[in-house]
Amino acid sequence: SKTILTDDFGRKHNYLRISLLEKCNLRCTYCMPADGIALSPKASLMTADEIFSIAHTFVENGVDKIRLTGGEPLLRKDFPEIASKLATLGVALSITTNGILIDRHIDVLKQNKINKINLSLDTLISSKFHSITLRNQFEKVVDNLHLLLNNDFKVKVNVVLMKGFNENEIVDFVKLTQHLPLSVRFIEFMPFAGNEWDRSKMISQNEILSELEKTFSSEEIQKLEDEKNFTARTYRIKDFQGDFGIISSITNPFCDGCNRIRLTANGKIKNCLFSNSETDLLTALRNGESITNLISESIKSKKKVRAGMVTLEEIDDPKLHFDNRSMIAIGG
Ligand code: GTP
Ligand code: 5AD
Ligand code: SF4
Repeated sequence: SKTILTDDFGRKHNYLRISLLEKCNLRCTYCMPADGIALSPKASLMTADEIFSIAHTFVENGVDKIRLTGGEPLLRKDFPEIASKLATLGVALSITTNGILIDRHIDVLKQNKINKINLSLDTLISSKFHSITLRNQFEKVVDNLHLLLNNDFKVKVNVVLMKGFNENEIVDFVKLTQHLPLSVRFIEFMPFAGNEWDRSKMISQNEILSELEKTFSSEEIQKLEDEKNFTARTYRIKDFQGDFGIISSITNPFCDGCNRIRLTANGKIKNCLFSNSETDLLTALRNGESITNLISESIKSKKKVRAGMVTLEEIDDPKLHFDNRSMIAIGG
């Protein structure tokens, strides 16, 4: 059925990603600009009640999956309140986190059935972890990854690949899936404000697959059926417990099946990760106005592919993504 969440290309947006705040306890260079970002004033961030209210409107209109992002979502002091309110909506709840605060929140996650966790970890080497995140938290993150697995959470490990940094760990990450029931996802480095992206720093889907073919035979690398509305094209090494995937937003986009809409921590919706035209729901909510028309207009104006960056040449043009937010203020 057609709802306000169906766009002009027939895509149904049933997956809402909510950023809870713009702060993080790490400083990953691909996400946060070296000199930081201008944080939204606290009064312009959604409260727990406002998050619930906006999420409720989306659920009434067909959203059945919500992912909490940030910054680092577990840094929100009122995370337990937000989680328990959203849990009453009866939709699939999940979170994308850097993992540092997982041990302190594991009971809240369980109580609210947040059992799918996407965890960012770009290297298996402690000193390299420090050089990309500018913090010494490698052991904590790895301990918490095991804590999640031991507690039967479904974990996806997000690995942003960057040339000269971690492409020599692709095979090691896949070998992790031999005895651990997790999904590793290799992500093509994407351009956002302040992250000094250029295409030569990116490791492409084809490069990832060629690297793996040096270690594993083509019979061992088995293609899996992809999730509905996938970001990652997925594979398994024969007889391995876990699997791996490739998120190729740049060289092989998956916009045809896009079902995502994003809500920033200051209450604006973005109809695409790469879109810098935002629609302010929070101000309307605070003025007691209806937000459904605003949602509908935003969905109607969604472009077919990557907010209109269709060719690789357009992606290379900094004008087209400089005005977008930094990743830390979008939430991935
Ligand atoms: P699932 O809900 O498990 O499918 O996770 P996800 O892949 O949607 O989300 P996650 O937060 O783990 O993000 C992993 C990577 O995929 C990050 O680099 C995100 O920026 C990227 N990503 C997530 N959603 C989209 C999307 O709609 N478009 C694009 N191009 N990239 C996305
Ligand atoms: N390119 C690709 N992925 C990114 N992420 C953050 N910044 C980038 C970027 N520039 C990923 C992180 C996190 C997810 C939400 O987004 O790995 O897991
Ligand atoms: Fe959807 Fe935009 Fe991502 Fe494409 S780039 S999948 S349209 S959010």
